[in-house]
Amino acid sequence: MDARPIGVFDSGLGGLTAVKQLEQVLPGESIVYFGDTGRVPYGSRGRELVRRYARQDMEFLLSQNVKAVLAACGTVSSVARDIGEALPVPYLDVIWPCAQAAAAATKTGRIGVIGTAATIHSDSYRSALLGINHKLQVFPQACPLFVSLVESGFVAPQDEVTRLVAERYLAPVRAAEVDTLILGCTHYPIISATIGSVMGRGVTLIDSGREAALALAKTLRERDLLCPEGVPRQARYYVTDTPENFLNVAELFLGHSVEGRTQRIEIESYGN
Ligand code: DGL
Repeated sequence: MDARPIGVFDSGLGGLTAVKQLEQVLPGESIVYFGDTGRVPYGSRGRELVRRYARQDMEFLLSQNVKAVLAACGTVSSVARDIGEALPVPYLDVIWPCAQAAAAATKTGRIGVIGTAATIHSDSYRSALLGINHKLQVFPQACPLFVSLVESGFVAPQDEVTRLVAERYLAPVRAAEVDTLILGCTHYPIISATIGSVMGRGVTLIDSGREAALALAKTLRERDLLCPEGVPRQARYYVTDTPENFLNVAELFLGHSVEGRTQRIEIESYGN
């Protein structure tokens, strides 16, 4: 057993989709969340820069004495797996858990993948899916504006701007008649109501935050790293820009306030 917190990170708010699930599947675990809100988005940046950011983010979490690291970011998961796997603690990302869930869910074998430009160009989800079953047909689509919409708080299911953008981006995957859609960026589950209504009822949405949280829970159980009973749960949140917008969207999304537990840090001093 291990009472240390779990470290979760993302470029911004998106990783909260994994935190929300972790609160449900592992309610006794403490969490240190890092959202790089000052440098978001990662998904439109080059591979080497994202890898440098990822190295710093992981280094920061290690400095917080975490027992495991979850890259709750499709972009980091796609380009920095080797960095995570070299950590001295268990490392999980979103690609494999999502691919497995999608392969299990599809009936027609036609799977859509939406993500940031970096994620889609890396072909990470397609490779994972074809590794599971080479007969699957994969239809990828980059949706770069979604991250800005979420970070700006355009997250209400009735938000017309987000809906319009979703209709434009999702038209090709709808036309491909997929029956399963991987939300391959952890920001996207925050607007899953809009994405779901544009895709239509028959399409199963795979939530990267949820799948990653379930995979992490399994790993902690298997390695006997769960927190012993009776240890009080703590959650701390760290960001790299002023916390205001983070606090608002986090509360809306998590259903509880993170005020008083959120702090700004200087990330550039880590991982160099
Ligand atoms: N939420 C992240 C992802 O899953 C990052 C989005 C971004 O920073 O571009 O890809």
